[in-house]
Amino acid sequence: MLSDEIYSRLIFEGQHHSIIAEPGFKERTILLDGFSKSYAMTGWRMGYGVMRADLAVQIARLMTNSNSCTASFTQVAGVEALRGDQSSVEHMREEFQRRRDMFVSYLNKIKGFSCRTPRGAFYVFPNITRTGWSSKAIADALLEEAGVACLSGTSFGEFGEGYLRFSIANSMENLNRALERMEKWVADNVKGTSPPSTPRSPRT
Ligand SMILES: Cc1ncc(COP(=O)(O)O)c(C=O)c1O
Repeated sequence: MLSDEIYSRLIFEGQHHSIIAEPGFKERTILLDGFSKSYAMTGWRMGYGVMRADLAVQIARLMTNSNSCTASFTQVAGVEALRGDQSSVEHMREEFQRRRDMFVSYLNKIKGFSCRTPRGAFYVFPNITRTGWSSKAIADALLEEAGVACLSGTSFGEFGEGYLRFSIANSMENLNRALERMEKWVADNVKGTSPPSTPRSPRT
C-alpha cells in the first residue's frame, strides 16, 4: 500500500486518519509525505517515506542510484521547517479555508458552473457541463482569452470530463481577479447568459 498523505495538515472539516493506524497496515504500508504543502516548499523537490526498515534499505538503494540524494541545503531547510514555529501551518490552513469559501461561492454564481466544497487541500473542482463546453476547450479558452490558468478535468483521466481543476494557492486579490475575468468570459461565450458581441458556438 502506498499512502500519499501530503495534505494531512490541510484539512478543513473532519480529521486526518492514516491507513497506517489500521491493524496490520503498518507492515504493509509505505506512507509518503513532503514539505510542499504544509510549508509552501513546492519546487524544492523534497519528500519522505515512512516504511518498514527492510524496505527502507531497498528504497535508499533505489534513490542513491536514481537521483543520488536530495541537495543538502534543501535538507537543512526541511530541518528548519520541522523544528521551527509551526503556527504558520495553522495560519495557512485557515487562509486556504477562507480562499476556498470565497472561490467556491463565487464559482457557483457563474453561469454553467457548479462546485462542491472541498474538505481539504487547496484545489477546487467545479462541474462545467452546463456551459456546453468540453473541459479541454474551456480550459484552453480561459487561458488564451481570459488569462486564467486551470487544468482540464481530463488531465486526471477520462472521467474528469465535465470538470475543471483550479488551484487556490494564490492571493485573495489574484483569485478574485481570475473569477471576475471568468465571469466576464462566460457572459460573452456561454449561451443563455448575456448575449455575446459576436455569436460563437461552443467548441468541443
Ligand atoms: C497528492 C500529492 N502528492 C504529492 C505531491 C508532490 O508534491 P512535491 O513533488 O511538490 O513534493 C502533490 C503535489 O501537487 C500532490 O498533489
